[in-house]
Amino acid sequence: MKKREQCILSPEEIPYYWYNVKADLPFTLDPILHPGTNQPAKPEDLKPIFPDGLIEQEFTLQREVPIPEAIRDEYAVYRPSPLVHATRLEEYLDTPAKIYFKDESVSPCGSHKVNTALAQAYFNKREGIEKLVTETGAGQWGSALAYAGKKFGLTVEVYMVRVSYLTKPARQQMMHLFGAEVYPSPSERTEHGRAVLETDPNCNGSLGMAITDAVEVTVKSKNAKYSLGSVLDHVLLHQTVIGQEVKKQLKKMNVKPDILVACVGGGSNFGGFVLPFIPDRLKDPHLEIIASEPEACPSLMKGEFRYDFGDTGHLTPLLKMCTLGSDFLPPPIHAGGLRYHGASPIVSRLVAEKYVRPDDLAQDEILQAAQIFSLTEGIIPAPESAHAIATVIKEAKKCKANREPKTIVFNLSGHGHLDLASYDFIAKINGNSK
Ligand SMILES: Cc1ncc(COP(=O)(O)O)c(C=O)c1O
Repeated sequence: MKKREQCILSPEEIPYYWYNVKADLPFTLDPILHPGTNQPAKPEDLKPIFPDGLIEQEFTLQREVPIPEAIRDEYAVYRPSPLVHATRLEEYLDTPAKIYFKDESVSPCGSHKVNTALAQAYFNKREGIEKLVTETGAGQWGSALAYAGKKFGLTVEVYMVRVSYLTKPARQQMMHLFGAEVYPSPSERTEHGRAVLETDPNCNGSLGMAITDAVEVTVKSKNAKYSLGSVLDHVLLHQTVIGQEVKKQLKKMNVKPDILVACVGGGSNFGGFVLPFIPDRLKDPHLEIIASEPEACPSLMKGEFRYDFGDTGHLTPLLKMCTLGSDFLPPPIHAGGLRYHGASPIVSRLVAEKYVRPDDLAQDEILQAAQIFSLTEGIIPAPESAHAIATVIKEAKKCKANREPKTIVFNLSGHGHLDLASYDFIAKINGNSK
């Protein structure tokens, strides 16, 4: 049995700034468009839904954006997160590849989402906002914002995609524990939701619909702002604490990556993990970067790269992104956090420019990857993270076939302790369970 190794940094090594890749990209990103005029949105256009501090981060080109001390203090509850050498997975796969994973499942709610939730709650509180309204898919983002809102003294209202609301009661309980209100989306509480439910009373919902519900409630509420858990540049910016720590950890372990892998829903864990490596990729085209997504919702693989709305009800600004269409209703796959019709404009452009390769995966591959990882490395992965693991297993098998000892590093974006019912469901439909 190979020795298990991991690199744990000290609290002083939590990054002091978020890394803004826009300072280093060899192209200029297409601007966000105002939904009314189709002209580039100005910072003031975003004021009805976001606080100034976050709007500034959405537009800035400054390479290093300082992390306020109060946020670093909260990060210290669970950061720096470990980088683990997955020796048992390597042994199981009998591969010459070296496999490492960044373990973001150690956060208070079990995923990377807390990294931006704390930042968003802090900047809203600083500007006197009292309430945050948001959407959530599988519930990871909603619980992260509920936690962060409570920490910084804000109330939180969450619109949860109906299919997840019905199948993941423990996520609702976690949000309630942190004092948030949770409603299923499409919601009887909004004009948009009522209209959807009139034509389809059993609608499963989607992230696009839940965003419309949340934005509608925000603009009709007093002293409230909307909070988004992925997609936008400022959200990816906050997540870059992940990749910055990984770079430090790989250096300490004397490891140079050949392949980086993370899953993509809206693109925030992927962006947070890989964007700090983009300057390396620009110098070295051999560094392969792979984005894993479900074949049932393949926005990077099969979507068009064009302007589209971030939500189904067309209340949000237009983003240039890989999209399956804002009216695309994905099937109720178990990875609720990957059921989004689009993907972050930064990640989409990196795919369009061929710096990133998408990989789409079937549900049975995901279940198998989750089982293997749980039994080798001892962590039940979130269904979303299991997509990354499935890509890693594919790449490790290629290394075996080609006798190539490549180094693969991936982001374990979260654990699946509250997603067991979904795993059981796929196991049953695959006839894989007794
Ligand atoms: C554990 C986990 N990983 C990944 C994702 C996908 O989101 P993103 O692409 O923003 O990281 C989610 C979304 O809910 C999630 O809960």
